[in-house]
Amino acid sequence: MAKSKVRTDKTPVDLLTPKQAAAEHARLGQEIAGHDKRYYQQDRPSISDAEYDALRQRYNAIEARFPDLRTLESLSLKVGTAPARGFAKIRHAVPMLSLDNAFAERDVIDFVSRIRRFLKLSEDERIDFSAEPKIDGLSMSLRYEDGELVTAATRGDGAEGEDVTANIRTLHDVPQQLKGRNIPKVCEVRGEVYMTKTAFLALNERQKAAGDTVFANPRNSAAGSLRQKDPAITATRPLGFFAYAWGEMSAMPAKTQTGMIEWFEACGFKTNPLTKLCHSVEQLIAFHRKIEEKRSHLDYDIDGVVYKVDRIDWQERLGFVSRTPRWAIAHKFPAERAMTVLKDIEIQVGRTGALTPVGKLEPVGVGGVIVQNVTLHNEDYIKGVGGKGEVLREGRDIRIGDTVVIQRAGDVIPQVVDVVIDKRPKDAKPYHFPRKCPCHLHTPVVREETATGEEGARARCTGEFACPYQKIQHLMLFVSRRAFDIEGLGEKQIELFYENGWVKEPADIFTLQARNRTIKLEEVEGYGETSVKNLFDAINSRREIALDRFIYALGIRHVGETTALALARGYGSWEAFHEACLKVAKGDEEAMAEMDALDQIGETVIEAVKAYFGESHNRGIVERLTKQVKILDAEKPKKDTAIAGKTVVFTGALEKMTREEAKAQAERLGAKAAGSVSKKTDYVVAGPGAGSKLAEAKKHGVTVLTEDEWLKLIGA
Ligand code: IVH
Repeated sequence: MAKSKVRTDKTPVDLLTPKQAAAEHARLGQEIAGHDKRYYQQDRPSISDAEYDALRQRYNAIEARFPDLRTLESLSLKVGTAPARGFAKIRHAVPMLSLDNAFAERDVIDFVSRIRRFLKLSEDERIDFSAEPKIDGLSMSLRYEDGELVTAATRGDGAEGEDVTANIRTLHDVPQQLKGRNIPKVCEVRGEVYMTKTAFLALNERQKAAGDTVFANPRNSAAGSLRQKDPAITATRPLGFFAYAWGEMSAMPAKTQTGMIEWFEACGFKTNPLTKLCHSVEQLIAFHRKIEEKRSHLDYDIDGVVYKVDRIDWQERLGFVSRTPRWAIAHKFPAERAMTVLKDIEIQVGRTGALTPVGKLEPVGVGGVIVQNVTLHNEDYIKGVGGKGEVLREGRDIRIGDTVVIQRAGDVIPQVVDVVIDKRPKDAKPYHFPRKCPCHLHTPVVREETATGEEGARARCTGEFACPYQKIQHLMLFVSRRAFDIEGLGEKQIELFYENGWVKEPADIFTLQARNRTIKLEEVEGYGETSVKNLFDAINSRREIALDRFIYALGIRHVGETTALALARGYGSWEAFHEACLKVAKGDEEAMAEMDALDQIGETVIEAVKAYFGESHNRGIVERLTKQVKILDAEKPKKDTAIAGKTVVFTGALEKMTREEAKAQAERLGAKAAGSVSKKTDYVVAGPGAGSKLAEAKKHGVTVLTEDEWLKLIGA
């Protein structure tokens, strides 16, 4: 252990003079910070926990008596305990929205005209705008109550963010206490957390030297630094904060955007020094140009500029369109581009079997990031015959060996936007998209159909259950609530079992218990005797299953719950359905026509069944599975009931059963339960609170029943 000895001054805190307190507070602060560093980052503490706690206690006691000593670096505001798991959620008092984008000058002109029209302003009335750089960092909402920082939350989904208060307290640019008088009771200050380019490069050097994660760009490293479980680590990362917006304010200290920015400064915040008040579209566009020129010389990343109507009363009148304000817009800079050589094309198989070609590049720097891979989207993109909206220059195809222009725009994965034809080597060959999956089975690849029945661009491996890339996905569907509904088997467990080779296909789930003598699940982390028993009980309770659920669980493409039910009803038993599927797979016309004749079944499903059962691996998987479970026959729709063949719609609240139960009961009795009323509807069963469907029923002259009348009709 190092020689560091704990030094606590003997003088009781109550008797310290302010001067003594300040000196001791500073000294203790340094000492504790050193211990934190050794403990959290270097894993080599030099004092015992008890000694450390004594230091902390004294430090906190001094601060409690002399609150003025509590600065933004104050350690009492940091959490010194073990790293927490995840972050708590914080609901934003006012949602954190995003900005609409403008790319061309025309978009900016339109933006201003829209505002003028909305506010009914004449052409000569001046609209002032605050023009600010758009910082490429993470937005943050800081809540102050009575001037004290109480919470800091990330944007999250806009409605709810993550509680990163402890980490934010370590930022120098974030005051713990707002400066000035007459601070409103509640102030939510919003802005951007960012890392400078210099700090990013230095951090990456340190990370590399320590063998730690290297970040792709300053934004990622800011995010990574902020999302540390341990604030002591965040404290070592140089993060900055610019204030530019607000959320809930119990009183408004200014009437304009620029006035608010001045107020933020008076409170102790940093605001962006390039912010400028503009009075016309021309000035906005000139601002965009000027900032774009400065962009590469700035020490922080920006991806555009933001224009905001300066008058807050106008902002309020303009309001929002869905999730973006009408009073602001982000005028983006063109994406950054670079030229390099495409060395190879590799195929990646996603979990759903989709094949994506990935271009392997001669590494090249684009906007401060080294890019080595680009997405090539799909076969048509490479051939240069992609549809509208694609970014590759028209008339270009992509070949291995080509010099390509790649583009990186914000968070978007880099892509190829042009090919330098002059530099195309003589031996550059057009790429042949694989017809077989790169998985070890080499199963055939098909191109998906679009909704309109045309050949789509996306290629997919037909290996289904057999393709290792798709197995996990399918296993997850298999155990899901609407399929086998096995409690205790979720994504985490499936991945664990799959990766250990314990469950490779659905049948394995049912043989797991028998094999557990060698697996010894109860010894695996996260499991114990009880949880293992519960798991096997859950599995065993699902050895009997309804035919429709079983069909759904097979994971045949395009066979969702409704289709599975239609197939189950149509064939009645697994044996009949299975036999039909095997025939369909062989192209048996009669079997196909029979399937086609079923209610709700069409060509897409038949093709999917054909592909699925045409694959011998799938047939094997199904066969092994059926040995493990008992598949119950489907109830054939009844023909001899009062409601057989009728269509019924349930609306409003039902009192005797849930709507789902009522529908299922109607279906068992041979009726069709529909969601909307038309002239083909026979009955509408209306409970309290029924609305538009009841009106529709009256319009079409459909019989309307109360719940009791309905129950009487069906003889329940
Ligand atoms: S104002 C109601 N000003 O851009 C919108 N946002 O797409 C309030 N951003 O999530 C945002 N610099 O993270 C505003 N000067 C600036 C900004 C800025 C960067 C980010 C922010 C926001 C995103 C909007």
